[in-house]
Amino acid sequence: MMTLITGGGGFIGVRLAARLRAEGERVALFDRRFETAALAGLPGDVETIEGDVTSFDSVHQAIASVHPDGVVHLAAILSGQCEGDPVLAFAINVGGTFNALEAARREGVKKLVATSSAAVYEAPDPAPPLDEDAPLAPISVYGMTKTVGEEWCRFYYRRHGLDARIARPGAVVGPGRVAISAASSWTTALIEEPLRGRPYVCPVAEDDSSALVYHTDLTDGLARLYLAERVPSRVYNLGSCAATAGELARLVRERVPDARISYRADPIAGFVVGRWRHVVQDFRRASQDLGWRPRCTTAAGLVAACADEVSKNPGS
Ligand SMILES: NC(=O)c1ccc[n+]([C@@H]2O[C@H](COP(=O)([O-])OP(=O)(O)OC[C@H]3O[C@@H](n4cnc5c(N)ncnc54)[C@H](O)[C@@H]3O)[C@@H](O)[C@H]2O)c1
Repeated sequence: MMTLITGGGGFIGVRLAARLRAEGERVALFDRRFETAALAGLPGDVETIEGDVTSFDSVHQAIASVHPDGVVHLAAILSGQCEGDPVLAFAINVGGTFNALEAARREGVKKLVATSSAAVYEAPDPAPPLDEDAPLAPISVYGMTKTVGEEWCRFYYRRHGLDARIARPGAVVGPGRVAISAASSWTTALIEEPLRGRPYVCPVAEDDSSALVYHTDLTDGLARLYLAERVPSRVYNLGSCAATAGELARLVRERVPDARISYRADPIAGFVVGRWRHVVQDFRRASQDLGWRPRCTTAAGLVAACADEVSKNPGS
């Protein structure tokens, strides 16, 4: 089977491409730019196509030339950047999702997996773990773009029978995911920077929290969602735990006692992450339907996994 991954040059895209190749899939990546270093670990037969998801023609041409059996649509801008530029957020996250769905339909592609986000939920006040049927009414721009993108996926399923499947990942933790446009980038940086001996100024308050998922667990969940012959539901939570900044800092200090972590709240990150303060994702549906068993289901597990990876690659 051939798979086209939009946003394929990004953090998740490259990891998913490696996983799908390992499963025997052929893979092509579509992105507006590729960094050679990011692609270094991929087999040489992974095709790269430069293009922009905001252009229907660009996405359509890519799908028409590759003839994929399925599309994984990851291209997006993340929460912090969305809040600062809602016009671009709409064009890329909503328009890009529409373009991928419509191009897939025109080319007879049978299935498409789209990444939404735990940011669709928002729970600024105490709330029980949220399953996929919890109501959505986000007031962050990113959460809103993802909610609307999900609705377009449901529309293409309802109207055209396109097997559109939606993943809702928690904030992704994994070494290397530091300098990106997410309001949640602290969830990795707060762990990775002190582990590498560097100071870190956290842009949210100590008691701010986020739904989380380790990158290898997310890659596994996305691969399972994509490769499953059939899925009984349209949408799957792929967030395996949640933690506050303070809790992650405490766990890091158990390994790096003199870790230099301080807090200086950034208004955008503080607003966005404050909306997620009590979001804990109930991922039982993904476990039941997809057999997803994330390895890191606690903050301690995430920090340990990160520390393990950093120790194997200390130079970055
Ligand atoms: N990283 C997280 O914490 C997280 C959490 C929940 C959901 N998600 C979602 O998962 C997906 C992948 O996230 P990621 O962490 O790999 O992010 P990333 O920023 O590393 O990757 C996104 C990719 O999309 C590309 N892109 C952006 N605009 C584009 C455009 N106009 N045309 C073509 N390509 C474009 C970027 O160049 C980038 O390579 C996104 O949809 C994101 O919203 C991510």
